[in-house]
Amino acid sequence: MPALVPRPTEATLRPGHFALDDDTELHLGPGAEPAADLLRTLLAAAAGLPLRPSPDGQFTLTLDSGLGNLGEEGYALTIDPHAVSLRAAHPTGLLRGIQTIRQLLPARALSASPQRGTPWLLPCADITDVPRRPWRGAMLDVARHFQPVSYLRRYVDVLALHKISVFHLHLTDDQGWRMPVAAYPKLTEIGGHRAESQQGPAGSGTYDGVPHGGAYTRAELSDLVRYAAARGVTVMPEIEMPGHVRAALAAYPHLGNHPERTLDVWTRWGVCDTVLGVHDEVLDFCRTVLDEVMDVFPSPYIHVGGEECPTTEWTHSAAARERATAEGLPNPEALHGWFLGQIGDFLLRRGRRPVGWAETGAELPLDFTVLTWRDSSHTLTAARRGHPVVSAYHRATYLDYAQSEDPLEPPAQPGTVVDLRAVHAHEPVPEDADADAAGRVLGTQAQLWTEFVTTPAHIEYLTYPRLCALADRGWSGTTDWADFRSRLDEHTARLDALGVRYHP
Ligand code: ACM
Repeated sequence: MPALVPRPTEATLRPGHFALDDDTELHLGPGAEPAADLLRTLLAAAAGLPLRPSPDGQFTLTLDSGLGNLGEEGYALTIDPHAVSLRAAHPTGLLRGIQTIRQLLPARALSASPQRGTPWLLPCADITDVPRRPWRGAMLDVARHFQPVSYLRRYVDVLALHKISVFHLHLTDDQGWRMPVAAYPKLTEIGGHRAESQQGPAGSGTYDGVPHGGAYTRAELSDLVRYAAARGVTVMPEIEMPGHVRAALAAYPHLGNHPERTLDVWTRWGVCDTVLGVHDEVLDFCRTVLDEVMDVFPSPYIHVGGEECPTTEWTHSAAARERATAEGLPNPEALHGWFLGQIGDFLLRRGRRPVGWAETGAELPLDFTVLTWRDSSHTLTAARRGHPVVSAYHRATYLDYAQSEDPLEPPAQPGTVVDLRAVHAHEPVPEDADADAAGRVLGTQAQLWTEFVTTPAHIEYLTYPRLCALADRGWSGTTDWADFRSRLDEHTARLDALGVRYHP
């Protein structure tokens, strides 16, 4: 078994090598050009090989609908001394196979600078590789701390190396709104900036006094979507509602429950009790925002948050109580499910699938795909109820927790430690699930909330190698920790070549 991460389904190494050099030509079947472009792009900096197309090429990339058993993402790769053949049923499978080829080359192939004199040898091998579940995700919170789009592209590059399929971009929260919406320019003009940030965990009394802000342009986000798609990664946007909206309410107070109130973009961490109102204008606002979001993000899944929404304001608002009555709801608390039902229906009518954070596994409208995060039992609850589920259990997938007990770890979300082994040990499919419920588990996903994370270096320190573990388990299902550790030892040379600043 070659030291690949994630572990391939079946792989046999044979003696001998195929040498990639200036004379290597690519024989491309119909539809294989994007995979060839990706291969050239990924090897451009270090190896700079022309990899010209030719009907006589020794290196073939083929799409073959007869290989349906490989699914959307699977691929088959054969490397002989004089020929390489990469085959898949679907273009995404070829992209996954390209990442395997990249990992089979000397680690220096991943370097950002020319590596002259390196023989680019691929070991002879037979690999058939199919992921067990389609959703291997990574969420990055750019609302709490903004990162430039150049870093998001780099982030996607490293996700793609690990065959991560979903980049979940958390674009809005109480502390910042990062996506421009033409009809509501103040969302980013006002909501994109906060005066300062709380220091330390929620509830601390100290602030840094340093303004923080930033927003993407629509063109930057569209370009990111294309960049990720070329690497087989879907960017799933998240726009939080009806809670976690303080930044939007700072921009447009009339969307709240107290139109006369002026609010700042939140400078604190924790759960904020200011939430959206439930009047028609608010639903119109959400639909307008989501229409623009859907224009920019072709993702079949659109995440609308939904979690940590205190209902105190609705209980105290005559207008909200009237709305609850008019909708035949038993109490103002039920406005939460009603609100998300309205939004979910809207997304479904537009041909998209609504996604939310499941607080308990049993409270969101049934047509929501849910990310279960709070309790390890919630995946089973949600799957039995009928939701498609992604397991995001915080004790195994939240990368904002420290990864060791070492007191020298940088400041992190307090409360638990999520070490590498816990991530690899996390089984997304609950033990007690029957076949129907198990079939609804789409996969698993890592989360990086960034209250305490301001720099790319810190993001990478928290993300790697834990995301390697999540990718390994999520793609292959392997439970073999020792085998993962030994593959990871070789894999870190690749992370080194890429300049990823991982946790030692
Ligand atoms: C969450 O951790 N707020 C989903």
